[in-house]
Amino acid sequence: PTIGVVIPAAGRSTRAGQGCQKAYRRIGGDTVLNRVLKQFRSWNTNCPIIVVHHGDDTSLLQASIDRDSNIHTTTGGVERQASVLQGLRFLSSLPECPSHVFIHDAARPFATHRLLNDVLECLIEEPLTGVIPAIAVSDTLKKTDSNGLVRATISRDGLFRAQTPQAFTLQTILHLHEMAATSTSSYTDDASLLEEAGLPVRIVQGDSQNIKLTYSHDFEEGERLLRANSP
Ligand code: CTP
Ligand code: MG
Repeated sequence: PTIGVVIPAAGRSTRAGQGCQKAYRRIGGDTVLNRVLKQFRSWNTNCPIIVVHHGDDTSLLQASIDRDSNIHTTTGGVERQASVLQGLRFLSSLPECPSHVFIHDAARPFATHRLLNDVLECLIEEPLTGVIPAIAVSDTLKKTDSNGLVRATISRDGLFRAQTPQAFTLQTILHLHEMAATSTSSYTDDASLLEEAGLPVRIVQGDSQNIKLTYSHDFEEGERLLRANSP
């Protein structure tokens, strides 16, 4: 397969607080977004990478990343779904339009080359299947009622926590996102669109260090991971 990458980075970071968009915050001296870009670039030296940013963040973006000729930028939408669609449209309009796309949240700067290789390997074996990294749930799961009282314990059999990057054939995921944009359903990840269409999605073993920076304390955890992994 030939690969392109779409990186949604157009969110407003409301849960992270601190008055700064998280993709442009620095951890270990580099911005979160630039870490993601460098990680993909060192993994695949010339694949097209589309960064989807918020229209208000243009100058932040310019100041935050090392550009190269195959890193492209486009503006996103109000929901993640709309941002991903913009990125996919841009990618498919390129002359060197790839067969497959990795969609990866800007907020996950710790995806290792091992993880990217595992996703790619699975894609090579089953090119028409969506591939996502995920981790089996280990906590006991409780379901509550509207008063916050526990009503049931849910079996964690076959339950996973999904991560990114999620990989698909570009034309399939683009088509599904185009369809989704005309409906009112909303999705928190991209594999959901295949699932709803009855198309197969395969899980590969995720990585516990591939955390999503969501809350302020996740940045502390990120700094800790960097220190633990630095030589
Ligand atoms: N994202 C996006 N466009 C949106 C919303 C989200 O590109 N309209 C991106 C975010 O920038 C992030 C990824 O999708 O890289 C995952 O979203 P999330 O962690 O929820 O980030 P935010 O939406 O920015 O944070 P919050 O939900 O706390 O506002
Ligand atoms: Mg969000």
